[in-house]
Amino acid sequence: MSMHGGGGGGGMGMRSMRRDRTILEHQIKKGTLPRILTFAKKYRPMLIVFLSAVILDAIVSSVSPLLLRAIIDLVVKHHVRSSLVMSHRENLIIGLALLTAGLAVFDAILSLFERRISAVIGEGLIYDLRAKVFGHIQEMPIAFFSRTQTGALISRLNNDVVGAQQAFTDLFSNVVGNLILVTIVIATMFILSWQITLVSLILLPVFLIPARRVGRKLGTLFQRGMELNAEMNMVMTERFNVSGAMLVKLFGRPQDELDYFEGRAGQVRDIGIHQATYQRFFFIALTLTASLATAFAYGFGGVEALHGTLAVGTVVALTAYVARLYGPLTQLSNLNIDYMSAMVSFERLFEVLDLEPMIKESPNAVVIPDGPAELIFDHVNFSYPGAEEVSLASLEAVARLDDTPRTDVLHDVSFRVAPGTMTALVGHSGAGKTTISMLVSRLYDADRGSITINGVDVREATTASLNAMVGVVTQDPHLFHDSLRANLVFAKPDATDDQIDAALRAAQIYDLVQSLPLGLATVVGERGYRLSGGEKQRVALARLLLKAPHLVVLDEATAHLDAESEAAVQRALDETMSTRTSLVIAHRLSTIRNADQILVVENGTIAQRGSHAELFNDGGLYRDLYETQFAGQEE
Ligand SMILES: Nc1ncnc2c1ncn2[C@@H]1O[C@H](COP(=O)(O)OP(=O)(O)OP(=O)(O)O)[C@@H](O)[C@H]1O
Ligand SMILES: [Mg+2]
Repeated sequence: MSMHGGGGGGGMGMRSMRRDRTILEHQIKKGTLPRILTFAKKYRPMLIVFLSAVILDAIVSSVSPLLLRAIIDLVVKHHVRSSLVMSHRENLIIGLALLTAGLAVFDAILSLFERRISAVIGEGLIYDLRAKVFGHIQEMPIAFFSRTQTGALISRLNNDVVGAQQAFTDLFSNVVGNLILVTIVIATMFILSWQITLVSLILLPVFLIPARRVGRKLGTLFQRGMELNAEMNMVMTERFNVSGAMLVKLFGRPQDELDYFEGRAGQVRDIGIHQATYQRFFFIALTLTASLATAFAYGFGGVEALHGTLAVGTVVALTAYVARLYGPLTQLSNLNIDYMSAMVSFERLFEVLDLEPMIKESPNAVVIPDGPAELIFDHVNFSYPGAEEVSLASLEAVARLDDTPRTDVLHDVSFRVAPGTMTALVGHSGAGKTTISMLVSRLYDADRGSITINGVDVREATTASLNAMVGVVTQDPHLFHDSLRANLVFAKPDATDDQIDAALRAAQIYDLVQSLPLGLATVVGERGYRLSGGEKQRVALARLLLKAPHLVVLDEATAHLDAESEAAVQRALDETMSTRTSLVIAHRLSTIRNADQILVVENGTIAQRGSHAELFNDGGLYRDLYETQFAGQEE
C-alpha cells in the first residue's frame, strides 16, 4: 500500500485541503477516473498479462496448505489403517514434497515476472505523466513562471507523479490479487471445516474496525508528510542557488536561516516518527490478530482432531490458511484509502494539465513576412494578468490566490519603429519600459490595441516566425550550465564553426573565448566558469547574432562597465544593430545619442518623443531624465 511507504519522498501537500481533514473527506472532481483510465489504456494488454499472473499467483499460493495436509494425513493415518503399502506411501510423500517445492520455485519465478511487468507499467506511466506535464508547463506563459515556486513545480513532477503511479498500480494488484486470494482461501476453509472457519473469522471485526481507523490516519499523515517535505524542499531550492546563497552571506543571517530550515526539517522528522509508529502499530495488530486466530484454530481443531471428527492434516491446512488470510483482508479494508490517494495525486497532476496556456499560437496563424522589420504599437493598453488567470494556489504556496484587481500598467501606447532604425526607451524606474519590451516578443499579450511586425499582429503570427523575427537580450542574460558552444547554438542548432566564430567576433568576445584553456568547451552558467557582467552580455549578443533576427529588443545593462568593456560592448552593439531594427531600453548616453527616435515613458504612457536634440531643447521630462541619468556619463 503506497501510503504506508516511508516518509522519505517529498511532495507538495494539498494546501487547498484543510489540514485537519482526513483524506477520505476530499471531494473528487468528476471525470478524474475516466481520465486516469485514458492514461492507462495504452497498457491494457500488459495489464491483462499482469492480472493473469496475479490471479495465477493467488491460486498457486493457496494450493500449498492442501499439499501439506495430504502429506500429514499420509503420515498420521499410517498408524490407523495400513491399506497402503509402506513404500508406496513413502513415494507419495516424497512426490508431494517435491510438488510443494516445485510450486514454491514456480511461485518465486512468477512473482519476479509480476514485479517486472508491474514495473514496466508503473515506470511507463511515470514517464508518460512526466513528459506530458513537462511539455505542458513549457507552454505556460511567463506570467505563470513569475508566480509559481520552482520547488513546488519540481515536486509535482517528482513526487506527485510517483505517488499517482504507486497508488494506481498498488490499487490494481491489491483489488484483483487480494480479492481472488481471499475468495479462494475462505471457500477452501469452508469446505475443510465451516466451524473452524467461523471461529477464525470471529476476530476479524475486532481487528478491522481499529485497522480502518489507523489506515485513515496513515493516509492523512502521508499527505501531510508530502506537504511538509515540499516545504522543506522549497527552502532548499531558494537558498541553494547562487543569488539566494549570496543574499544570506551578505546579510550575515546563516543562523536564522538554519533555524528556519530546522523548523521545517523538524516537522518532517516528527511526522516521520508518527508515521513509523502508526505503521508498526498496524503491523503488530495484524500479526497479533493472525496469531490469535491461529491459536483459536489450533485449539478448536486440535479438540476435533482428538475426537477424530477432523483429520490432523486438515487442522494444519486450516491454520496455514488463517495465517495468510489477514494480510490481504486488511489491505482490502483500506482499499478506499488507496483509491483516494491515487485520485488525489492524479487530481494534482490534472490541475496542472488543465491550466490553459494563455498565450498560444492562433489556429490560423500566419507567417510574418521575412525582411527588414517594421514594428508598430497601436493604442496598446496592458495590465499584468491576475493570479487566478495564470496560476494555482497550490503552486504558489499560498492558501488563497492574490486577488488584487488588475490595474493598467500601459495606457494608449502608440509608436512606430521604421525598418533599420533604432528607437530608445527612457523613463523613470517602474515607468513601463520593460513591460513594453515584453509585449513585442509576446511574453504577454496586450489587452487592447495591437502590436504588428511587418503588418502582422503578433497574436496572429506563427510562434516560429515570431521567434525567428524577434531577438531579445535581457539585462542579466541567462546562460545554461553547459559549454559555451551549447549555449550559443541554442539559438541555431545547425550553426557551423565559421558562423560561431563570426558571431563571436562581431560580439567582441572572440579573443576572450580563445584565451580560455577549453575555448568553446568551457562550461558556463549556474556552476560553471564565471563570466563578468560585460562578458556575459557579449556572449548573449553573440547568441543573438547567430539567430540573426530582423528585430532586436535589448535591455541595456545598468551596471557601469569599465571603459574597455564599455567600448567592447558598444562595438558589439553597433555591429548587432547596424543593419537591424531595434528597440532599446537605454541606460547609456551613447545609445540615446545614436537613437533615431527616443520615447520617454512615464506612468505607462509615452510622454514625449523625438530625437535627442529635439527633446533636449524642448526641456521638460526628458531634460530632467537626461540631467539625472545620462549627463553624468559625459566625458
Ligand atoms: N509581473 C508583474 N506583475 C504585476 N506588475 C508588474 C509585473 N512586472 C512589473 N510590474 C509593474 O509594472 C510597472 C512597470 O514595470 P516595468 O518593469 O515595465 O518598469 P521599468 O520602466 O522597466 O522600470 P526599471 O527602469 O526599474 O526597470 C511597475 O509598476 C511594476 O511594479
Ligand atoms: Mg525594466
